Amino acid sequence: MTQRHVHNEKLKSRIMDADAAAALITNGMTIGMSGFTGSGYPKAVPMALARRIEASHAAGDPFRCRVWTGASTGPELDGALAKADGIEFRLPYNSDPIAREKINRGEMDYFDMHLSQVAPMAWQGFLGPLDVAVVEVSAIRTDGSLIPSSSVGNNKTWLDRAGAVILEVNRWQNPALEGMHDIYYGTALPPHRVPIPLVRPDDRIGQSYFRVDPDRVVAIVETDAPDRNLPFAAPDAAAHAIAGHLIEFFRHEVALGRLPASLLPLQSGVGNIANAVLAGLVSGPFEQMTAFTEVIQDGMLDLLDSGKLRMASATAFSLSPNAAARLNADMARYRDKMILRPQEISNHPELIRRLGCLAMNGLIEADIYGNVNSTHVMGSRIQNGIGGSGDFARNAYVSIFMTPSTAKAGKISAIVPQASHVDHISQDVQVIVTEQGLADLRGLSPKQRAALIIQNCAHPDYRDALADYYARARALSFGQQSPCLPGEALSWHQRFIETGTMRQ
Ligand code: COA
Repeated sequence: MTQRHVHNEKLKSRIMDADAAAALITNGMTIGMSGFTGSGYPKAVPMALARRIEASHAAGDPFRCRVWTGASTGPELDGALAKADGIEFRLPYNSDPIAREKINRGEMDYFDMHLSQVAPMAWQGFLGPLDVAVVEVSAIRTDGSLIPSSSVGNNKTWLDRAGAVILEVNRWQNPALEGMHDIYYGTALPPHRVPIPLVRPDDRIGQSYFRVDPDRVVAIVETDAPDRNLPFAAPDAAAHAIAGHLIEFFRHEVALGRLPASLLPLQSGVGNIANAVLAGLVSGPFEQMTAFTEVIQDGMLDLLDSGKLRMASATAFSLSPNAAARLNADMARYRDKMILRPQEISNHPELIRRLGCLAMNGLIEADIYGNVNSTHVMGSRIQNGIGGSGDFARNAYVSIFMTPSTAKAGKISAIVPQASHVDHISQDVQVIVTEQGLADLRGLSPKQRAALIIQNCAHPDYRDALADYYARARALSFGQQSPCLPGEALSWHQRFIETGTMRQ
């Protein structure tokens, strides 16, 4: 393999193989890894570390690490380390199935936190010391500065805070990524915090490179491996219907003068529905749109190609293999329309509020008052994590949540009497959309919201049962602000399945 992506003479001497680099990590260390939704995560050192940990188990002297990342990563990182039983503690977001099982079996501690808060909390110090950073970059420049790769995440913070730094220089990442990033070094803790000088999604407020103290770089590993994201499912009828309702809603808001014709900066969450909504906007009436969001997924690339989206600001790509190949083949052209920033900036509440983002996120269940559960199936089993949904939902101009009205092939209603876990309180949830319709909850009291959500969003198979529950809650509830029968609400699905009706 050539060394052409490491251009700093002093740092060239630190090049070694992944096993040698992983050997520098020892039991109990906290590791800050790069990576955000399957992009820009280290691909060789975590695998080498997993092999070491497996060997340590076999030798009867097992060791485990604490792992901090940007968000989810890829199978070579979370998957490999979880499989080796090498992660003792993990933050802030996970979508790896093996890690998910470990967490839900109680074998791995998981701190699921708002993505904008990770870097500030690391600086505040109470997460504990960061022993080592393992960060993928595209290249090391002659002056020792680093060209970021396909995600920025928390890398700036890991590189500044860690006692030792291991760099993976991935030749697969396109050199034309250089110049796409905007790394802002102006954040500080109170009382020294100042306003962030960003007033449009297009604004560049930082520099294109990470800085790193060369004396703390203990290893450089060269790789040539692709990012790995799963392909998106083709939008089904429900996804098309949700996209249609949303576009109609935006059209209506524009007609009333409550949104400009180019809308406001879009934020689009993770998952197939979010991707389908973006695809729907390709044939929608809005031009010159912008995005201030967390990830750039396939649908956003299509929107850029269509010319409807003028530019997109995010912290990472989250592209299917085909879309990643498309981007890589034409990076220089896309570079002028995209900005990748640290996640403390892409998800910053101050900026989301200032720009007036239109937040569109998925959910697991919503209750009839509009409280949203994004994370816990049956209130206790974590699916992924809150990710950036809280950063955006509370601060958005319009906070929208969208979901098919049922899950598990119709066996479970996504609209329930009382959410079994609440990530987004009703005050942070302004619009709920299912394939059945859209409920605009702005300015409505809890009882008005309940009537609208049941009518517009619930699946017809569950609508009567929800209406029946609500009617009895109106009759029997302790209070009448948000009528509720707590014991019954949480066993609602069970009772509904057993009796086929709520009337007993
Ligand atoms: N009850 C039980 N299971 C449910 C359910 C419910 N009400 N709703 C969904 N599920 C299950 C699905 O069946 C599926 O299970 P499977 O993996 O066994 O097939 C799983 O949860 C994921 O559901 P799916 O419909 O495939 O999800 P999605 O891709 O639309 O994503 C979330 C939905 C909520 C999981 C996803 O949006 C998320 O993780 N959100 C939180 C983070 C976030 O919003 N980030 C963006 C901020 S920028």
